[in-house]
Amino acid sequence: MKKFVTMLLVLVMVLSLAACGGSDGLTVEKGKLHMSTNAEFPPYEMVTNDGGFEGIDVEVAGLIAEKMGLELVVDDMGFTAALEAVQNGKSDIAMAGITVNEERKANMDFSDSYATGIQVVIIKADSPAVQSLDDLSTGVLIGTQEGTTGYIYCSDSVENGGYGEEHVMAYETGAVAIQALLAGKVDCVVIDNQPAQEYVKANPGLEILDTEFAVEDYAIAVKKGNSQLLDEVNKALSELIADGSVQKVVDKYITAD
Ligand code: ARG
Repeated sequence: MKKFVTMLLVLVMVLSLAACGGSDGLTVEKGKLHMSTNAEFPPYEMVTNDGGFEGIDVEVAGLIAEKMGLELVVDDMGFTAALEAVQNGKSDIAMAGITVNEERKANMDFSDSYATGIQVVIIKADSPAVQSLDDLSTGVLIGTQEGTTGYIYCSDSVENGGYGEEHVMAYETGAVAIQALLAGKVDCVVIDNQPAQEYVKANPGLEILDTEFAVEDYAIAVKKGNSQLLDEVNKALSELIADGSVQKVVDKYITAD
């Protein structure tokens, strides 16, 4: 009898564990998909007037969450913090126009890519110091957002193709870097193309150099080793790419003009 009860208990435990499978129990908060981001990166993520969040990443993450039967929660923080949150298990996914690179791949896992990012150089149109990419190596001061690939490339040593740390300023957000450019504190800003377009549109007198700095892939980050979550995210993402949903979101935020 005792043996039977034990077996029954084991069976109940196994069954309840199985019930936890699927998307529930897979995320940091039951029924929710926490996305850490830095909502200072138009048109991928930005804060709305009423304090909500919008942008390509926010909407695509919402669609992914929906497919997984979860509710999206956006956790807004600094860019480096957004990457750390997913590594520390504080968020389920990090989505912030994140460029996949080897160093990040060592610390987190990435989904399939959902967009291309291009690093560009913003200057003041009448800048005496910078009118071409070559001018970046003449000892000018370059503005970037902290923790971004723009910062990583530029602050690298000259031997490695960078300009040296002493020639690069790291600001909390891209917008703050742009303010520094307008105020004459830096000679140019290296940042992703889409936010660059928005900043140039919003600030007369700024312009983007024709020569691109680097081409990159954006992907969604998850905690290293969380292959179950990664598989579910990739499955949802590939469906959303295949049925045109991702493109529809992109077209809503990026108009060809
Ligand atoms: N693509 C660049 C990177 O991964 C910049 C991303 C910045 N994103 C943001 N939400 N602030 O480093």
